[in-house]
Amino acid sequence: MQTLHVDLGERGYPIYIGAGLLARGDLVAAHIIGRQVAIVTNETVAPLYLAALERSLAGHSITTVVLPDGESYKTWETLQLVFDGLLGARHDRSTTVIALGGGVIGDMAGFAASCYQRGVNFIQVPTTLLSQVDSSVGGKTGINHPLGKNMVGAFYQPQAVLIDTNTLATLPARELSAGLAEVIKYGLICDEPFLTWLEAHMSALRALDKEALTTAIAHSCAAKARVVAADERESGVRATLNLGHTFGHAIETHQGYGVWLHGEAVAAGTVMALDMSERLGWITRAERERGVRLFIAAGLPVVPPENMTPEDFIEHMAVDKKVLDGKLRLVLLRGLGEATVAGDFPREILNATLSADYAAQLAQLKN
Ligand code: NAD
Ligand code: GLY
Repeated sequence: MQTLHVDLGERGYPIYIGAGLLARGDLVAAHIIGRQVAIVTNETVAPLYLAALERSLAGHSITTVVLPDGESYKTWETLQLVFDGLLGARHDRSTTVIALGGGVIGDMAGFAASCYQRGVNFIQVPTTLLSQVDSSVGGKTGINHPLGKNMVGAFYQPQAVLIDTNTLATLPARELSAGLAEVIKYGLICDEPFLTWLEAHMSALRALDKEALTTAIAHSCAAKARVVAADERESGVRATLNLGHTFGHAIETHQGYGVWLHGEAVAAGTVMALDMSERLGWITRAERERGVRLFIAAGLPVVPPENMTPEDFIEHMAVDKKVLDGKLRLVLLRGLGEATVAGDFPREILNATLSADYAAQLAQLKN
């Protein structure tokens, strides 16, 4: 097992990474304060991993809340089911909410923990690659609004993150690829040598090679922990973790939540950010193509949805959380491994990126 630490003073916490950790009741129990525990999970993950987690929590009084599965359920209505479960079983302020599932469950359970009786103990047990490398770390919690992705939520750090890498064995290949989008992101924003490692190990990662996956997860969590420790509430460097997300969130909202997976939208969105960085003269064509090739190798889309016009993008991007005083800001690259948050770009460059022919770019790449 590897243990990393998110360095946030009294709100700091460990990230445990290893195979079979669901059975390590001692690790979870160390972060539970009272007897009561509420496990929030969904109808897909519950039959796979709920029993193992419950066994680890023997001796506690456990309430289980099983939510419907899917991004389209990351809503107020579903959140209410968590509060129904907590109040129905008379959970008090000493309770611990445990999120068992992917990023949707983690974001919703964390948001519920942040507001139940004004805040209770919270533990993340992420079971998708995406949640293990990104969403379970850093304390962003929340739900979607029909007009914008993740628009309602809270910063609320967990007491611990428990990553059992064995859970990836049951993850559908499409979901694994979606997680790889966020892994590639870390290389692009702050760690060029990691891109070289990913190029060499992408096949192993997609074949669920345990050593490669553990390395990628630990490397990603360490990068995220560093950024979060430097800027917990996103007043600066943390925004760079959103490379490709402004374009990507527009895709998710426009297509309908769950139609494009979050990681898929981030991949196509990052291809757009690479395109814009090249148009600004900040990266070379070869660097853009290197990034695009990695997304292709990971099995991810590199062409935005055909049915989205530049106007569609502009409309949805105006609701992004990086918009300040009505001004759009984008995470772009000044080089591979060097992200920046840019607000002062010529509008015609953004328009060119929004109307670029990505299918043609892909065809050129293949030649
Ligand atoms: P998800 O939670 O929808 O999980 C993907 C699918 O895999 C679901 O059907 C789920 O039930 C299933 N699943 C989960 N674990 C499984 C397992 N071990 N075996 C088989 N199936 C399993 O999606 P996700 O990609 O994990 O997370 C995406 C969400 O995370 C989005 O809502 C996104 O906005 C959010 N997110 C949040 C942050 C953050 O910092 N809070 C960061 C990135 C993404
Ligand atoms: N996924 C972006 C962040 O946690 O800041």
